[in-house]
Amino acid sequence: MTALRDIRKQFLGFFETNDHRIEKSSPLVPDNDPTLLFTNAGMVQFKNLFTGAETPKFPRAVTSQKCVRAGGKHSDLDNVGYTARHHTFFEMLGNFSFGDYFKDDAIKYAWDLLTKDFGLSKDKLLITVYHTDDEARAIWKKVAGVSDSQIISIATSDNFWAMGDTGPCGPCSEIFYDHGDKIPGGPPGSPDEDGDRFIEIWNLVFMQYEKFSGGKQTELPKPSIDTGMGLERVAAILQGVHNNYDIDLFKNLIAASVEESNVKAQGEAMFSHRVIADHLRAASFLIADGVSPSKEGRGYVLRRIMRRAMRHAHILGTPEPLMHRLVPALVTEMGDAFGELKRAQENIETTMLEEEERFRKTLGRGTALLDSATANLKDGDTLSGNVAFKLYDTYGFPLDLTQDALRSKGIDVDVDGYEAAMKIQKDTARAHWSGSGDAGADALWLGLREQFGPTEFTGYERLTGESQILAIIKEGQLVSEAGPDEAVQLLTKSTPFYAESGGQAGDKGSAVFEDGQAVITDVKKFVGDLHVHMVTLARGHIKQGGNVRLHVDPSNRRTTMSNHSATHLVHEALRRVLGTHVTQKGQMVDGERIRFDFSHGKGVTAEELSQIETQVNQVILDNSEATTKLMAPDAAIEAGRWHCSAKNTAMKFAFSLLAMCQTEKIILIRSNYAGGHM
Ligand code: GLY
Repeated sequence: MTALRDIRKQFLGFFETNDHRIEKSSPLVPDNDPTLLFTNAGMVQFKNLFTGAETPKFPRAVTSQKCVRAGGKHSDLDNVGYTARHHTFFEMLGNFSFGDYFKDDAIKYAWDLLTKDFGLSKDKLLITVYHTDDEARAIWKKVAGVSDSQIISIATSDNFWAMGDTGPCGPCSEIFYDHGDKIPGGPPGSPDEDGDRFIEIWNLVFMQYEKFSGGKQTELPKPSIDTGMGLERVAAILQGVHNNYDIDLFKNLIAASVEESNVKAQGEAMFSHRVIADHLRAASFLIADGVSPSKEGRGYVLRRIMRRAMRHAHILGTPEPLMHRLVPALVTEMGDAFGELKRAQENIETTMLEEEERFRKTLGRGTALLDSATANLKDGDTLSGNVAFKLYDTYGFPLDLTQDALRSKGIDVDVDGYEAAMKIQKDTARAHWSGSGDAGADALWLGLREQFGPTEFTGYERLTGESQILAIIKEGQLVSEAGPDEAVQLLTKSTPFYAESGGQAGDKGSAVFEDGQAVITDVKKFVGDLHVHMVTLARGHIKQGGNVRLHVDPSNRRTTMSNHSATHLVHEALRRVLGTHVTQKGQMVDGERIRFDFSHGKGVTAEELSQIETQVNQVILDNSEATTKLMAPDAAIEAGRWHCSAKNTAMKFAFSLLAMCQTEKIILIRSNYAGGHM
């Protein structure tokens, strides 16, 4: 049996031998495309090479790209567990030509690899072509020597591939594998095509066009090639199994799930183990790429994936949280090919555990409500939207989790009713928001929040990112553009800029756009989760709807992080020297200094001050490793003790207490460190 990791190697090696450069998978959060929720195909990182916006440094490339198809275009979330071949996370093997070879060579490479190197019988393969693409049909006949009946013309979008609503696209030709007549399903284009007998394994896209918003479509500068083959699907064929969940990688993950849950993978439980194994991969890779579970945007898709898996852990009857205990098995399977998994292991485990603990608080009561609300419903009935909304709002059940729970009973959910209940809640919240006191400004920010949702923060992992300009605000008014020397506020779809919160100053940095540049002097949070950049234009014009590249000033971020670390050291030293009654009352941290407010019934003596200073400096001089960890406030407080602080310092300089107000119990500290955490 060829192991999945060897198939990956064989694919990359085949194309390397044919002059392709092996490139690393790009992150799941695309940093070159604000229109895309997640990287959903191998071509995403090369988008600008196809459109001509960037000049390729090499004409051919090959990758094994991590992809997530959940939420947004190409979402497979609803299918996971119900078919043999769908995943929320999968690896896409792909070869790419940037204006170099086109259809002839793409078809020849694919056919040679499948039939010679992988040794598949050509009788098991079926080809589809776009109905107008006579050229591709002729090449297939010549190169593969297959009969006309093995080449099926398809007139639908299935054979016209597009990355998203905009971007490069073109007709495509797909290769299907026939798993034999014991499996139900018909060939592509037939009424039974959704069955599992004929499985698409490789899509060859003949990139010829670029789509723009509004429907305009233009020719690409040079026709190019983008292909995508599902690694798990081809592994199933080469390992002689029909179901992707029976390949080596999934068998090992399911074995870990069986061991940790103590429930055999049989009957209904098999389905739960499969969902758990699939969602473990998607959730872990998303967390490794900087996404954290939240109420909106990418974070909400992650939460939906995690909670769906956690409900299945609950169905298996595991008394304790399960998902975090499966992460080591995943790291064993995939950590060698994707080092980020190893590096983020601790953060993945903590995030999983915290989310599962949080969800378990309401999961049981939510399940009881769902059971009682559906006790009298039968196949074909509909659950009321109000109950689905209550499950979401009170018990943290995402809508698709409720739908998933009812699917096997054939019960639908009244989605319109659910949305109507959601709208009533939003309108009520809006009416009750006390606001900042400036009604005009509040209405503006609330309106933007409602129109665009929260800002996606990408800055834990990266200090740069490309995004779309959603709004430009000048002196409290929306404007469509701004020019040199103007000071404006900028709202973008996503940002790597930390916004002032929890007593930590916002990031500083710069913005580069189509024909200009700007300085970002500060970033603040408005209406809870909009990161708003305070910007002064240096040159050029910035336009609403345009793209912008955002760069955080790394040295300011570093010193701010160091200073943030210092607050934990000070807090612990205060508790050790003055007593454990000392609690933090507030803080202000920026790149240059910290202010730490604390409670203590009397003044601090000079001797105590000197002891505090010595203790903190001692830890600093240990110069231990710095790590970044995302924590819930309670966990952060708990962790803010010596052991954590010591781990989080990598600092070169001692600090000194500059001033202390005896009556207000405030100390002011200037620090000068070389590392730290946020
Ligand atoms: N970009 C090719 C595919 O996703 O199928």
